[in-house]
Amino acid sequence: MHDDTGGAWWRNAVIYELYVQSFADSDGDGLGDLAGVRARLPYLAELGIDAIWFTPWYPSPLADAGYDVADYRDIAPRFGTLAEADALIAQAHRHGIKTIIDVVPNHCSDQHAWFQAALNAPPGSAERERFWFRPGRGPDGDLPPNNWQSRFGGPAWTRVNEPDGEWYLHIFAPQQPDFNWGNPEVRAEFEDILRFWFDRGADGIRIDTAAMLTKDPALPDLDETSPAPHPYVDRDDVHEVYRAWRAIADRYKSRVLIGEIWLADAARLARYTRPDELHTVFNFPYLSCPWDAGRLREVIDGTLASHGPATWVLSNHDVDRHVSRYGRADTSFDLDNRDHSQPVDLQLGTRRARAAALLTMALPGSVYVYQGEELGLWEVEDIPDERRQDPIWQRTGGTDPGRDGSRVPLPWSGVEPPFGFSPASATVPPWLPQPKEWRELTTEAQDADPESMLELYRAALRIRRTWRTAALTWRLAPDGVLAFDRGDGVCCVANLSRTPADLPAHRAVLLASSPLSDAKLPPDTTAWLRF
Ligand code: GLC
Repeated sequence: MHDDTGGAWWRNAVIYELYVQSFADSDGDGLGDLAGVRARLPYLAELGIDAIWFTPWYPSPLADAGYDVADYRDIAPRFGTLAEADALIAQAHRHGIKTIIDVVPNHCSDQHAWFQAALNAPPGSAERERFWFRPGRGPDGDLPPNNWQSRFGGPAWTRVNEPDGEWYLHIFAPQQPDFNWGNPEVRAEFEDILRFWFDRGADGIRIDTAAMLTKDPALPDLDETSPAPHPYVDRDDVHEVYRAWRAIADRYKSRVLIGEIWLADAARLARYTRPDELHTVFNFPYLSCPWDAGRLREVIDGTLASHGPATWVLSNHDVDRHVSRYGRADTSFDLDNRDHSQPVDLQLGTRRARAAALLTMALPGSVYVYQGEELGLWEVEDIPDERRQDPIWQRTGGTDPGRDGSRVPLPWSGVEPPFGFSPASATVPPWLPQPKEWRELTTEAQDADPESMLELYRAALRIRRTWRTAALTWRLAPDGVLAFDRGDGVCCVANLSRTPADLPAHRAVLLASSPLSDAKLPPDTTAWLRF
């Protein structure tokens, strides 16, 4: 593929988040795998993406769907082999598709060799110094060392067995011990892991939980009301890590570092994309924003003003799928307050998701597509309790529904589960159950249907290629309408109001998310116009 970006391909790329265990299962074990991805690369090439971000594909006991990594330099046997990953990277390159690997540096799996060695070593040993081991509080040391809570519910500390009975820190699940980034061995290890994947042809790294690596070594209690820096979120010293990583990436050609950082403070977020740090970060304010023209305009302007190279994200494997979000009375999203109690109007949500796709793809910058959004999949909210896998659901006793509903395996073909996700010979069902209604959303059902979400995505990505580097200029528009030009001659108009809006003068409609009527733009519709 011709690269006209001077190597900075990621500045306006379309990056497909491929959640490996839910993409395509070639061997019938109910979990997606690399052979499944290889067989479907033509589908991704036809969709028109530039890169795939693979969620963790390493050996893992799956305490957190693979974000508990047991070996950063290998592939999970249930997904395939390292040789297959090499072949996949090369095959994707032949399709003009780049590969981004997910690196999880905040914590590993409790089965990782280093953590096992730490468990078998005494307090104060070099093995324990790679993690956060501390004696407990209270006369018998049976209270956790401080008041930090796990992001997945419950205390962030777990006590190891007697005789020494120290506690170790895990900001996520107990099976995910946090590394001590004050330890030079940890830094050297991850720098080597980066080189390992860059040497194998990876074009980029998505950095998990990127703002949380470094901790205040005094491990003070967390006091949310205190003006002091947070003991483990967005500490100033985390930037040293990324300066070192950037120096490594820069020794290769056209590699990208992408940070997963949830920070409300735009100025603090922007510090991660200083010229000698990460190339980009995910735009979570855009994802969390309600379906409201004024609020979206603020986020878009804020992004373009401060956020380094812009990215646009509507969904990922940690959040409710946006078809469902946009079909609720409250269309915003809060990671810490997932609300599945609201009724969902799927028809409205789908209509808005179509409009949101065209709005998003018209913005300057790179766009993330989470697998299945191109099919219009919704959040599956009725997974039976006994089938749920997410530690968030388990550890909160079900008060937080967790993330399983966005991770349900893709429907490819046929009229009943597993919808071609697994081969017909499979004896094990998909690892999460698929709704029977998805028979209407398979790629087979949507292929060549001009009204389908899949064909909307294909057409939009094809058109977007022709003007993706052009600048954005806002037009004056009535309340509830967003209108802007991209370069010369192309205009995007999105109507988020409840009444039809006038269309600006134009020579042709390039694409519309819903049918236009009498030169009007109906509510919850976006159109791309040539004028
Ligand atoms: C990130 C991942 C999420 C995972 C967490 C802990 O937020 O996206 O899926 O549970 O980190 O690794």
